[in-house]
Amino acid sequence: MNVTTLKTTFQDLFQSEPEKAFFAPGRINLIGEHTDYNGGHVFPCAITYGTYAVAKKRDDQLVRLYSANFLEKGIIEFDLNHLEYAKEDNWANYPKGMIHYIIQAGYPISTGLDCVIQGNIPNGAGLSSSASIELLTGVLLNGLYDLEIPRLELIKLGKQVENQFIGVNSGIMDQFAIGMGQKDAGILLDCQTLSYEYAPIKLENHKILIMNTNKRRELADSKYNERRGECEEALSQLQQKLPIEALGQLSEEEFDANQSLITNETVRKRAKHAVYENMRTLKALQELKAGNLEAFGKLMNQSHLSLRDDYEVTGIELDRLVEAAWKQPGVLGARMTGAGFGGCAIAIVENEKVDNFVANVGAAYREKIGYDADFYVASIGDGAKEVEMEAVR
Ligand code: GLA
Repeated sequence: MNVTTLKTTFQDLFQSEPEKAFFAPGRINLIGEHTDYNGGHVFPCAITYGTYAVAKKRDDQLVRLYSANFLEKGIIEFDLNHLEYAKEDNWANYPKGMIHYIIQAGYPISTGLDCVIQGNIPNGAGLSSSASIELLTGVLLNGLYDLEIPRLELIKLGKQVENQFIGVNSGIMDQFAIGMGQKDAGILLDCQTLSYEYAPIKLENHKILIMNTNKRRELADSKYNERRGECEEALSQLQQKLPIEALGQLSEEEFDANQSLITNETVRKRAKHAVYENMRTLKALQELKAGNLEAFGKLMNQSHLSLRDDYEVTGIELDRLVEAAWKQPGVLGARMTGAGFGGCAIAIVENEKVDNFVANVGAAYREKIGYDADFYVASIGDGAKEVEMEAVR
């Protein structure tokens, strides 16, 4: 991906020079899945795949956006007085929502802009291409209009776009990882308090592989909101006896001793996942800090099993992919990452075994599912930022 390509596209489309260039990454989550909206911990990191933009302020109220990933949509136009969600605006609803909420939060954007974007995050793969566009728009508006919106506020505004403008009831993990990412570090985030710490991830002898099922996952149509509802039901039944505000406040022992308060067996399993996964995430950080990568990998495997059996968000594609990964030599751990229901899984694999791993897992997946999975080596990179116009990736 090359920002100078964006520059040429900008010149061709808008007959002028872009002022500034920006980048926002995608993310993977190493462990701590479906815990963010339960007030638990997550452990994601930003990746070097992401979305780039070049932009320039205009003198009038017009906003013109163009994505090289959605050529067929052409230039999408709206003006600053019409920032409502519009189905036909498609991908541009993400930047539009950001502009809308940033103005609503009291930041002055009095003139429009021209902007060209392009991303290399596989779309619909569960690597947060949408949160990437949200934070990209956030840093872009900050940079073009000198708004000085604090990073945490941009993260919260991104979540607001997802929840209210788009209508997906997601937690804060994706926007936080993309807003706060740091090269070669995971972020342990307490989603109840938003306190966080960086944990260095230097895998000398291993690589993190992203394995794409190529089964698209669409959060809005998925059972994501249903799982949230089930967790809320479990919480309110537990609250009859326990003074808690979130499932993430319970230890495994406290949950086990009180689980009979949850009347529905399925709802009980959902809550069990939320509690156990949260504790697993904290254990995983300890293992990582102690240099016990093998133990970290085993916790990843347990996470997948819990997401498969108790939370039921994996599906056949992710299960076959992860099961094939578990059988390979040199694998420390593998699990789905993100919301589930398709999308991507990750695996930690010994350097020398990577080629073999990709060949074997790829063949097993094709045989069982009937089409190919894709594999990418993940590098952990920085969060959303302004980049040099000459920057070349
Ligand atoms: C999606 C959501 C996140 C989080 C994960 C599951 O990525 O956007 O907020 O809930 O699913 O861990």
